Amino acid sequence: MGVFPPAKCPQCGAATDRFTQSELLIPADRIDEVIRACWKVTYGLYLVCSRDGDRVNGQVCNTIFQVTSDPPRVAAAIGRANFTHELIARSGIFAVSILGRDDHRMVRRFGYRSGREFDKFKGVPVREAENGCPVYGEAVGYLECAVVRELSADVGTHTLFVCDLTGGGMIAGGEPLTYAHYHEVRAAERAGAGKAGD
Ligand SMILES: Cc1cc2nc3c(=O)[nH]c(=O)nc-3n(C[C@H](O)[C@H](O)[C@H](O)COP(=O)(O)O)c2cc1C
Repeated sequence: MGVFPPAKCPQCGAATDRFTQSELLIPADRIDEVIRACWKVTYGLYLVCSRDGDRVNGQVCNTIFQVTSDPPRVAAAIGRANFTHELIARSGIFAVSILGRDDHRMVRRFGYRSGREFDKFKGVPVREAENGCPVYGEAVGYLECAVVRELSADVGTHTLFVCDLTGGGMIAGGEPLTYAHYHEVRAAERAGAGKAGD
């Protein structure tokens, strides 16, 4: 999520050289710098998992934020092409697992390939929230969400789901993973891989 495109089209698998830019407001020579600044916006990283009947799935999401405290409501921007979006749009429910600082493996598993291609939960400790949606069993904590359809919005590539909190609590506790920390570790890994290949 952000101003940068995914590595390939999540729908047809096409590489980025096949993408067209609908409107580029950032001068081309500033894009890298803007991306670096975007990575410093302090989001957390979460698994958003939904259920529609027997079908379950989850994805990584950084765009979860509280919008009101009375009533307690959060918003989540979910890509319209995602399998998770399909389930949320149908059932109107999901659970947010708050990832811990060392949960990079979960980001790799849930954030880069669609659950239409493989079972993301295989081998992952999972429990069920009261609303029936999967929750990562070693998460810092979790939130249960019910979509308020009249407050949710089509924002182009994504739907901004605005939700009432219907439950939640702590699981393992500890320090949550941030988006900035995730990208720092990824950049260090890439630099290490580059050196190894020299
Ligand atoms: C660090 C990171 C942050 C992400 N944040 C979002 C997000 O906020 N919203 C979103 O829709 N997708 C986000 N994604 C992409 C989805 O997790 C990804 O497209 C996923 O494969 C969709 O899976 P699904 O088709 O199984 O639902 C993020 C991915 C990563 C790696």
